[in-house]
Amino acid sequence: GRRVTVRDLARAKRAGERWPMLTAYDAMVASVFDDAGIPVLLVGDSAGNNHLGYENTVPVTMDQLVMLTGSVVRGTKRALIVADLPFGSYQESPEQALRNGVRFLKEAGAGAVKLEGGRRSVPQVEALVAAGVPVMAHLGLTPQSVHAFGGYRVQGRDAESAEQLIADAKAMQAAGAFAVVLECVPEELAARVTDLLDIPTVGIGAGAGTDAQVLVWTDMAGMTTGHTPKFVKRYVDLRGALGDAAKAFAGDVVGGAYPAPEHAFH
Ligand code: KIV
Ligand code: NA
Repeated sequence: GRRVTVRDLARAKRAGERWPMLTAYDAMVASVFDDAGIPVLLVGDSAGNNHLGYENTVPVTMDQLVMLTGSVVRGTKRALIVADLPFGSYQESPEQALRNGVRFLKEAGAGAVKLEGGRRSVPQVEALVAAGVPVMAHLGLTPQSVHAFGGYRVQGRDAESAEQLIADAKAMQAAGAFAVVLECVPEELAARVTDLLDIPTVGIGAGAGTDAQVLVWTDMAGMTTGHTPKFVKRYVDLRGALGDAAKAFAGDVVGGAYPAPEHAFH
């Protein structure tokens, strides 16, 4: 079989079919999601918080995400792999965006890239798309701007910021983006943007009206500790299960129950 492409996602929008997206940061977890039939995997810069141990996404580098993206690509056969352009890797110029976007396709084997921002990112999106790099845009709560926002909060609540978001979404579509992530925006606004656009919207904390839904895998699998946002649904307590496994192993080793005779070579 072949990989999912941006054309398949355009077709899904026309057919009114909803689709799921998850983040992945390594080959083994990515292979689980690929086998489960998740059509699109995002090597998000949320790797900063969820894989690399940083406080937020700001310190994440191109080299780190190129390595993680290569791992996710190697672990999968079918999913479209989208790689996040990290903070500082595209804001300077369309040339910088193109240089780094090309790295994800050439060095890591990704099928598309994602970047944050609307009208301010139009030249970057145009340069990438013109060169053959499919671009997913990310609007609403854009975590790379955490210092400018002064924290993480719902975006587009008042009429003016809602109109700004709509203008940003239209600008991203006009610039050639193949999809738009809407993070932490009111359900009614996300549904309106979804209606207005011909390209798919991917919601996270944006209600049920978007064309697709994305979650950070460590959130939906119950690996993340601390505050969980309201929009997260936990599908498994993987932290609990893995912790129990580690405790059972430790108990067996200390108590002498592992290894048993069947685990030994003679
Ligand atoms: O980095 C990430 O995980 C993301 C998703 C939340 C959309 O950008
Ligand atoms: Na991200």
